[in-house]
Amino acid sequence: MTRRGMPRQMVNDDAEAGSFRVHRGAFVDEEVLQRERSEIFDRCWLYAMHESELAKPGDYLARKVGGKPLMFVRDRAGVLRGFFNACPHRGMTLCREKSGTARNFSCFYHGWTFDLQGQLVALPDSAGYAGGADPVGKGLKPVPRMEIYRGLVFINFDAGACSLEAYLGNAKEYIDLMLDFGGDEVDIAPGQQRYSIRSNWKLLVENSIDVYHAHSTHNRYFSRFLPDMGLPARTWLNVSDQAPGRAIALDNGHAVAETLVRSGPLLKTAANELAEVRQRLVEKFGEERAARIADYGRNLLIFPNLLFISTWRTIRTIYPVAPGYMEVDAWALLPRSESAHLKKLRMDNFISFLGPAGFGTPDDVSGLESCQRGFFEGADSLWSDISRGMHRDPVAADELQMRAFWRRWQTLLDEAPAPTTYGDARLDPVADDCSHGPECVEGVDRA
Ligand code: FES
Ligand code: FE
Repeated sequence: MTRRGMPRQMVNDDAEAGSFRVHRGAFVDEEVLQRERSEIFDRCWLYAMHESELAKPGDYLARKVGGKPLMFVRDRAGVLRGFFNACPHRGMTLCREKSGTARNFSCFYHGWTFDLQGQLVALPDSAGYAGGADPVGKGLKPVPRMEIYRGLVFINFDAGACSLEAYLGNAKEYIDLMLDFGGDEVDIAPGQQRYSIRSNWKLLVENSIDVYHAHSTHNRYFSRFLPDMGLPARTWLNVSDQAPGRAIALDNGHAVAETLVRSGPLLKTAANELAEVRQRLVEKFGEERAARIADYGRNLLIFPNLLFISTWRTIRTIYPVAPGYMEVDAWALLPRSESAHLKKLRMDNFISFLGPAGFGTPDDVSGLESCQRGFFEGADSLWSDISRGMHRDPVAADELQMRAFWRRWQTLLDEAPAPTTYGDARLDPVADDCSHGPECVEGVDRA
């Protein structure tokens, strides 16, 4: 049930008045979460894994994606396959290890055994079944859709969804910029972060693309950690000047905040190596594109729950378990052929800020949980303000990127055709092969 007194339209978008508000019921209401599951997580493309995690035939991993337990395996022919991680017999979790290498999968419960293509190949005492050992129709249930872009494996629970490429739209350009930082293909670094936050998942979406909060929330990083690294302390006299760059709303609710990178720990500890990397980028892509790749930091949202944060070369996904509780998974990206020394420095840089005990993550967790406690108290009547920058060409520290997310969120929850104009947005269709119809071709304002 929606809490009493809450509007169905949780997003109040008034470009003329320069006002953009989100009702805080969106963060606490159980019915909203149910609609998010059915209209967003069951319909949008969701990041599942990176191809490098399953390098050779027989490699497998099991993980939840969009709240559902899945398993992925590279079969003997090298084909990547995705299945629901549930035995078709009586539902036992089939793959009970997080990852490994296998020749087949045998169910713990009654011993049905499946090959790497998901086919049932053996079962104890098959004479007990009318069809005997005939395995037809008893294989693992495949994930409805699975497509790959630049090694990033996405799945979709909606068999009629548009193609992944159409869904990503013009965000592909920013994914490319995100992945090309070493001038080589990237691998997922061994290991994974898994943690939970006692707040609504959308607060971390906002936070992950929110340049405005950085100095205030992470003051100890800027005022203590950087000086300890031999770098000047930074203070925000004017947020927009300190973080020159822009916010860009992309297709289908995707968005990016990009800032010019002037300094940072890696630029000090790995100055020579990074200069060599930059030279390789120039040789491979030319000066202009090399500058776009190397000289800017980007926080990129792929709607609804995938974040790339380039300063720390990380991928992060978010999933809501309850209105006030989310689970977070994060991985580090490393260029495939880079030196072990530079990889270590990149990992140190990642962990020092975005590790669960780093200088950044605990600050954000504390802030988001504090917001959530307040939402539970006063959500029936209060609205959050997300209007920053509506009166100008949005800079990185503005909130256009969040408005792009919220507009798409409201559109999907409305179950109504998307408007062709929307507040300060300009809408351009970008995908025409989508079974969802017009609501899946939303483009938004571009900076
Ligand atoms: Fe898997 Fe019975 S539940 S074999
Ligand atoms: Fe933060």
